[in-house]
Amino acid sequence: MATSISNKIKKLREEIQQHNYSYYVLDEPAIPDVEYDKLMRSLQELEEANPNLITADSPTQRVGAKPIDSFPPAKHEVPMLSLGNVFDEAELEAFEIRIKDRLKRDINIDYTAEPKLDGLAVSLIYEKGMLVRGATRGDGATGEDITENIRTIKSIPLKLRKHKSLPKKLEVRGEVFMSKKGFDKMNAAARKKGEKTFVNPRNAAAGSLRQLDPRNTAKRPLDIYFYSATKIEELTNVTTQYESLQLLKEFGLKVCPEAKLVPGYRGCLSFYSEISKQRDKLDYEMDGVVYKVNDLALQNELGFVSRAPRWAVAHKFPAQEAITVVERIEFQVGRTGALTPVAKLEPVFVGGVTVSNATLHNMDEVQRKDVRQGDKVIIRRAGDVIPEVVKTVLKPGEKRSKSVQAPEVCPECGSDVVRIEDEAVIRCSAGLYCPAQRKGAIKHFASRTAMDIEGLGDKLVDQLVDEQLISSVQDLFYLQKDEICALERMGEKSASNLLAAIEASKQTSFERFIYSLGIREVGVATASALADYFPDLKTLLKADIEQLQNIDDVGPVVADNITSFIAQMHNREVIEALVEAGVRWKNKPKITNKKASLAGNTYVLTGTLEQLTRTSASEKLKQLGAKVTSSVSKKTTAVIAGANPGSKITKAEALGVKVLNEKDLLKLLKT
Ligand code: IVH
Repeated sequence: MATSISNKIKKLREEIQQHNYSYYVLDEPAIPDVEYDKLMRSLQELEEANPNLITADSPTQRVGAKPIDSFPPAKHEVPMLSLGNVFDEAELEAFEIRIKDRLKRDINIDYTAEPKLDGLAVSLIYEKGMLVRGATRGDGATGEDITENIRTIKSIPLKLRKHKSLPKKLEVRGEVFMSKKGFDKMNAAARKKGEKTFVNPRNAAAGSLRQLDPRNTAKRPLDIYFYSATKIEELTNVTTQYESLQLLKEFGLKVCPEAKLVPGYRGCLSFYSEISKQRDKLDYEMDGVVYKVNDLALQNELGFVSRAPRWAVAHKFPAQEAITVVERIEFQVGRTGALTPVAKLEPVFVGGVTVSNATLHNMDEVQRKDVRQGDKVIIRRAGDVIPEVVKTVLKPGEKRSKSVQAPEVCPECGSDVVRIEDEAVIRCSAGLYCPAQRKGAIKHFASRTAMDIEGLGDKLVDQLVDEQLISSVQDLFYLQKDEICALERMGEKSASNLLAAIEASKQTSFERFIYSLGIREVGVATASALADYFPDLKTLLKADIEQLQNIDDVGPVVADNITSFIAQMHNREVIEALVEAGVRWKNKPKITNKKASLAGNTYVLTGTLEQLTRTSASEKLKQLGAKVTSSVSKKTTAVIAGANPGSKITKAEALGVKVLNEKDLLKLLKT
């Protein structure tokens, strides 16, 4: 009897461990969350009834019950080093030349290129496969023993997988970090409760790992990627860094999926530019890339200089945060009339460019951050995102200017400003009578995703409106060459090009046309859904709220935005005038082909796909007759999830909607 219970417990633990491996390491969840929770509950119940059978490596035993007084010191057998930096191509090339000089031979060198994760380095020791110690880096020689906190991180296995090459004692190193999503969620919750928020995921991860009460750490969304194991070539038969990453994976340790084997420093550079593009889409922060000579024998030959290896280097991204001064705060009026507070800054170099404006988003944000004219502030620029003010840096008792008040009238046209209850946004009430909104509407109309009028950028739109050559989108089609030539910095050639581009834009598609109208909250996806649903413009203009809500992607708010847009006389006049001016599209041939293999199915794409972009995946699905929408509902056939999927998975699970991975998608497309 006793053995059968202990067997049952053992089986359950193994099953849970296997699911953890599928979920965290392979990134291929094998069962839905609810099923996993059931397994955990069964195990908990059995252990509660048989406390003598509880072991430290049981998945139920992650969170200890007691806070500790302090973190004992933890000595590192092999010191934890730091890395040298390079900042550009020339410095990287010099790094490779130094290696070859040192090796005294001119051989081709392969590198493992890995994101430089922006978190905290840790060292974990496994003995006979059991996690026995977790430590911070500290000064490199001695860190702090944070075993109890490390145990609470769900993606860290308490027990490694059985493996023929698993050494008796294994020390692995990696970076503990907080995902961007986890960070945002945690800060939002803290804000709601009026608690302190963290400035960035790195600080949040560091703060979380240094909690004296592991129960607090357990509540933080911490994660890890492992990047090395000490003495791995002596302990196993791997010969390269890249192989050792694969081996760590087989042991059950999570490895960054973006790590890649690349040839030479040029290979490193292409990795750098690729990952720079992906960076914003990935759900973890990185502050650069680490290149490591792949061959472990070469690594040993190269050795170390002071505290850094000669065989590895960090290629840092340009700093993303900088300190500067707010010269004044302005309100800019956008296409929808929303007034956005913008901090005008003393220009500062950050993230590779000079920044002189940073957004403050809305009045709630201005009040929360309490940014005022003359304040010293930290600003942050992440990738292509608009720079934003992170926070003020004030000296105690510093004299400051008055706090910022929302304007009562529109700074562009003097009309009243309104604030809709429950919305953080304040708006100019003048609609298209406000020149700023008019300009916004025209810029949107001309943009790449809308009518795609090449050469008609923001500055030119401003000029055309300011010179009163146009006041509405349809006026574009009646512009005369001599008028355009008369504008500042406009030659005859550019004027002809512009006219040709305007002419060419007349031939468009129904979805572009709908999108270009700038109906509030009708983005590209919704415009496309509308164009798919309505056979022509006439029927769209007659649509009512109920009918619109039949369309996937259109909820009550968007439906209301659409009907109120088409109900307004001046919008109808614009639409008519555009058709009158010669804007045309071919009505989409409806996919009536019942044989289209995916007809009647609706998919939602989420996360980053590897082999396809989301747009091309979506196009391919549509070609096979499927619908692709952006939100999950009971009508969804399946959610297709790439790496780092978002809340859509949770929603799918809650609704019992199937979740497929990229492999399934490729199969689906082959059918
Ligand atoms: S390798 C001797 N790989 O960068 C090799 N480090 O400046 C040293 N880091 O303390 C570590 N991502 O916290 C390595 N893929 C990666 C890394 C990485 C982040 C951090 C780590 C280390 C620091 C070195």
